[in-house]
Amino acid sequence: MLSTRSLFDEIYRNDQAYQLFCSIAAGGEDQGGWENERITALTRDPVLAPKVARHGADERKHGRIFTQLLNKRGLPKVPVPDEADYCMLLERQGVGLSHERLNSDVPLSEREIITYLAHSRVTEQRAAEQMRQLVKAYADNPDLDRAMRMISSDEDDHLAYCHEELLRLVAAGHGPYVRHALETCARGEIRTHRDVGLAVTSRMAEILRWPRWQLALVTLGVHALYLYDRAFGWRRMVSLRMPERRNALGTPAPPHAEHGVL
Ligand SMILES: [Fe+2]
Ligand SMILES: [Fe+2]
Repeated sequence: MLSTRSLFDEIYRNDQAYQLFCSIAAGGEDQGGWENERITALTRDPVLAPKVARHGADERKHGRIFTQLLNKRGLPKVPVPDEADYCMLLERQGVGLSHERLNSDVPLSEREIITYLAHSRVTEQRAAEQMRQLVKAYADNPDLDRAMRMISSDEDDHLAYCHEELLRLVAAGHGPYVRHALETCARGEIRTHRDVGLAVTSRMAEILRWPRWQLALVTLGVHALYLYDRAFGWRRMVSLRMPERRNALGTPAPPHAEHGVL
């Protein structure tokens, strides 16, 4: 029976598939870490800056966790294929702030902060959902269970923070621009998520020598999710609701918090 759980189990059991999976995950987390570090440096808001710094520190920690999972198996990181590079493809779709902008020294305007937060709101929704899926899939795996739960809980906090900060900006009168930024990000993210999903599926099919029916079925799943997201799912990415957990990123990251989960 083909299930999400059996797919992730197959990936875990194959060195090459696991290497690609952890390398893509580590690459995305590191990229998220770098973006948040740059945004911290370019933010003039003294209340927001430490929260962005915390966000960046968490993503760096996630990058280290995925890298250490590879090390534990004695596997080096492999380069992320361009067509599976979620962050780069998002940027090409015009989602979020560009590398060029983040590499400059000019402080971010209020609108750019909204662009950053909208990008985070949408991508953290995806990250939180994917991590919940991984927590379920690897619940019985002693190597991965605790690490997946730690990352999942962090991604939930990141999402809560985005809701809270964007609602603060809506209350300050930026409602129309926040809505516009969220809708633009969600449209681009839904397309990018499909493209990356198809690229990863075809690489995994090669590595794991899937029969044609299996490749066809997983590919169909990616297209079905895209159609669902485009028609209905996008609403969950652009809505704003005050989270139960307030000020989720209000404290600095503890050093080496990943120790003990690996
Ligand atoms: Fe993360
Ligand atoms: Fe995150």
